[in-house]
Amino acid sequence: MFEQVTVAPPDPILGLTERFNADPSPDKINLSVGVYKDAEGKTPILHAVKEAEKILLKEETSKGYKPMTGDPAYGRCVREYLFGESHPYLDDPRAVTAHTPGGTGALRVAGDYLAKVHNAPTLHLSDPTWANHKGVFTAAELPLDSYPYFDKTTNTVDFAKMIEAIGQIPAGDVVLLHGCCHNPTGADLSNEQWQQVGQLLKERGILPLVDFAYQGFAEGVEEDAQGLRTLANICDELIVCSSFSKNFGLYNERVGAITIVAANAKQQAAVTSQLKLCIRTNYSNPPAHGAAIVQTVFNDADLRHRWHDELTAMRNRINSTRQLLVDKLAEHNVSGDYSFITAQRGMFSFSGLTPEHVKTLIDEHAVYIVNSGRINVAGITEKNVDRLCQAIKAVVG
Ligand SMILES: Cc1ncc(COP(=O)(O)O)c(C=O)c1O
Repeated sequence: MFEQVTVAPPDPILGLTERFNADPSPDKINLSVGVYKDAEGKTPILHAVKEAEKILLKEETSKGYKPMTGDPAYGRCVREYLFGESHPYLDDPRAVTAHTPGGTGALRVAGDYLAKVHNAPTLHLSDPTWANHKGVFTAAELPLDSYPYFDKTTNTVDFAKMIEAIGQIPAGDVVLLHGCCHNPTGADLSNEQWQQVGQLLKERGILPLVDFAYQGFAEGVEEDAQGLRTLANICDELIVCSSFSKNFGLYNERVGAITIVAANAKQQAAVTSQLKLCIRTNYSNPPAHGAAIVQTVFNDADLRHRWHDELTAMRNRINSTRQLLVDKLAEHNVSGDYSFITAQRGMFSFSGLTPEHVKTLIDEHAVYIVNSGRINVAGITEKNVDRLCQAIKAVVG
């Protein structure tokens, strides 16, 4: 059976980390995968998370299966982060949330649901987008298309082109939008732009699917949700795939959610029944621990404060590292203007490095960056920034 199997290509992002781990170079630098690192280059467990785990260790009484969609209280907590504390969707039967294994799990459930229940509508992704979007939705057998998003000459969103392209998309298709901290460009829509996009989607009968993996990494938990909330005020139907991997540092606990808003409660009951079917035939029910941590922090005012402070510290470190990188590139006389890096938001920066630059950086300098030139700014520290800039100088000039 297995003799005929050919080797699959490595994952464009996680495959690089495998190569990085195998690289013997003592001063290798990994700026590929989207994981937060502190000033020491470590991915810490947040103190609020550790404290919540102590509480759980004492109070947990069962490891019994969770419902297919997870704890309803977790769902309500997710919707409070997404829509705000007094939003009608917290208790409105039009909105349902299922706890999924990470944001990726939520995207795959969304893909399966659209493919099976809506006869595989075309999903339009931003160009560029997170590399795994294509993989996940192709695996779910959704046809894919793309809309222009980024202007490489100005390093900002090419909004005119984006709107023009969305204006051509037929009714019944689905458009994926990044809630904040667009991956890989770090360029987000303004609130007015969200408004315009929302109105256009509504007018044309296009379903928005918001991928919201970085809430709190751009400006703050509430601030970063403004675009999504604007969209939710305009569109009666939408899907949100969210994740606590990054903002709680719960990467390996696999804690995310899919939230679907339908036009009325009757439609939602049907949607939920189909959603459960997709989940039951995939992983059956979600892993409990990460969601229990999020809920414990959420329900304890002190822990919530602590989490907020820790999230703020992560965000501030990323922003000061952006400035550090720009300053150091200038200090090392690297040709080009990199000031745009400080205007980008979230963990990533679209550096402008070409695939050829990236290849040389990996092969000759042990600096690991994804092919598109996207760098994880959080992987830069005071200790490695000079070596990084020397390597960039060597390939860029
Ligand atoms: C844009 C985007 N969406 C979704 C995810 C999924 O995150 P996870 O499955 O780790 O929660 C990521 C993670 O890198 C991402 O960058």
